[in-house]
Amino acid sequence: MTARLLVLASGLGSTLQAVLDAAAEPGFGGSVVAAGTDRPGSPAMRRAESAGVPTFAVALADHPDRAAWDAALADALAGYRPDLVVLAGFMRVLAAGTVTRFDMVNTHPSLLPSFPGAHAIEDALAHGVKVTGVTVHRVDAGLDSGPILAQAAVPVLDGDTADTLRERIQAMEKPLFIDTIRQLCGSM
Ligand code: GAR
Repeated sequence: MTARLLVLASGLGSTLQAVLDAAAEPGFGGSVVAAGTDRPGSPAMRRAESAGVPTFAVALADHPDRAAWDAALADALAGYRPDLVVLAGFMRVLAAGTVTRFDMVNTHPSLLPSFPGAHAIEDALAHGVKVTGVTVHRVDAGLDSGPILAQAAVPVLDGDTADTLRERIQAMEKPLFIDTIRQLCGSM
């Protein structure tokens, strides 16, 4: 079976790009049926469009409240009948009803449970940790919580800035995320 992957992304989309590239390889076991965002016009969606993948946006500002946004996002996801929802830099917490309705996997740039949230790399630097890394995990209704599927450690070097550390973390993150998605597709 070829798993139907739906990727959600809020930002630059380098992680989405890695998923698009991997899924285009024969034998990957999954294909990207759509990409969605909470930020209309995000560079991530342009990457999906360039790959010929349908995109959609569900912006919080277009809905009267958070519950309405949650419902609209869940409806949009359901319309594509995804086997796996891939969170590739999607920077919002999803409603409990949404994370239980769909199989979801997320990647996060720290060794969870340390440094959840939107500023994991800056937070790790501020705490002076000597090792940080990346975590790939199933998604529950918490902030970067849910059962851990894979982790990799990345040393923090003297003189690291958020940008230099992010670059090394993301170089480790993409293959770990892709390998995990491949395994999840293979187990469907
Ligand atoms: C990735 O490093 C991902 O781990 C992180 O956002 C980045 C997205 O980069 N996600 C989180 O921090 C989730 N809490 P990208 O826009 O280049 O793909």
